[in-house]
Amino acid sequence: MGVGGCLALPWRCLVVLCLRLLFLVPAGVPVRSGDATFPKAMDNVTVRQGESATLRCSVDNRVTRVAWLNRSSILYWCLDPRVVLLANTKTQYSIQIQDVDVYDEGPYTCSVQTDNHPKTSRVHLIVQVSPKITEISSDISINEGGNVSLTCIATGRPDPTITWRHISPKAVGFISEDEYLEITGITREQSGEYECSASNDVSAPVVQRVKVTVNYPPYISDAKSTGVPVGQKGILLCEASAVPSADFQWYKDDKRLAEGQKGLKVENKAFFSRLTFFNVSEQDYGNYTCVASNQLGNTNASMILYGERG
Ligand SMILES: *[C@@H]1O[C@H](CO)[C@@H](O)[C@H](O)[C@H]1NC(C)=O
Ligand SMILES: *[C@@H]1O[C@H](CO)[C@@H](O)[C@H](O)[C@H]1NC(C)=O
Ligand SMILES: *[C@@H]1O[C@H](CO)[C@@H](O)[C@H](O)[C@H]1NC(C)=O
Ligand SMILES: *[C@@H]1O[C@H](CO)[C@@H](O)[C@H](O)[C@H]1NC(C)=O
Ligand SMILES: *[C@@H]1O[C@H](CO)[C@@H](O)[C@H](O)[C@H]1NC(C)=O
Ligand SMILES: *[C@@H]1O[C@H](CO)[C@@H](O)[C@H](O)[C@H]1NC(C)=O
Repeated sequence: MGVGGCLALPWRCLVVLCLRLLFLVPAGVPVRSGDATFPKAMDNVTVRQGESATLRCSVDNRVTRVAWLNRSSILYWCLDPRVVLLANTKTQYSIQIQDVDVYDEGPYTCSVQTDNHPKTSRVHLIVQVSPKITEISSDISINEGGNVSLTCIATGRPDPTITWRHISPKAVGFISEDEYLEITGITREQSGEYECSASNDVSAPVVQRVKVTVNYPPYISDAKSTGVPVGQKGILLCEASAVPSADFQWYKDDKRLAEGQKGLKVENKAFFSRLTFFNVSEQDYGNYTCVASNQLGNTNASMILYGERG
């Protein structure tokens, strides 16, 4: 009875086939890999996890029995429902292992019996797995000058290559070809997004980003004195950068300007504070001080609102 007959009577044949095949190759038969004569089989079969692997074994009409074995079992029908017979012809005996997983990796043997002489050939099944980032640092907020350590752990087969890149328009393109990215004495220019990329050529690289916020005390970049004629609208502007963004306060000489003072408007935004005099009078002229502060410190700048001919 051939294997073709078995397809029609699976259950009875399952036992018969498995028993026949079990006696085909004595345990411990040395495997001659790269047997150039017969049977001929591929050396390496590479598939991705979850895909199907086809193992082909060439046969001819001298062959009376043929089987595919892995390290421990005869594969077709005997054990694993993922193994299906793909071709059983006069020239080929092929099986397919469906939904391949990493534990399927390893050597497979095609065992052929011709005139009572068993012959074997081996293929090596290589299972590839797309990269996957399994652990990555959380977004972090750090004071300028501090040390930052970012971690990115990824799995995959073959082992993925891990790189870190600084994504930022003003970035200096910092690169680390390692799971760990260490930044000592971080500067405000080094704030922004850091991208971890894991690649192993099995599929597109996997990327994930970590946001690094660098805190620093306010720095007043612009505070100009302004000349305004009496009766006109006057504006004093105080520009400051800070992380977290600064709180602003205004003083005239030593006196703090009250919010909602008549004829005066104070607008505070993340990067500036604007003082608007709707109708400048002589009393408005003088020395104004803008104080910008956050939890890391404060700074101030003074400017003069002075009279000018209208
Ligand atoms: C089969 O794969 C192994 C391991 O990846 C490799 O060393 C060997 O060169 C490959 N053989 C062939 C014929 O590609
Ligand atoms: C051999 O194949 C059987 C059926 O696919 C499977 O259950 C078993 O884990 C495999 N053993 C090895 C060592 O690969
Ligand atoms: C940062 O690292 C440097 C060098 O390793 C060390 O000298 C310094 O004390 C560290 N600073 C902080 C704030 O941990
Ligand atoms: C500005 O104030 C002066 C003096 O109080 C007043 O005479 C004038 O009408 C005001 N101008 C405007 C545009 O409100
Ligand atoms: C304005 O006031 C500040 C702080 O009180 C002071 O340091 C600065 O010299 C003054 N500017 C002028 C022009 O008086
Ligand atoms: C402005 O800064 C100086 C120097 O840091 C400080 O002595 C002064 O008190 C500050 N003025 C205000 C109004 O905060």
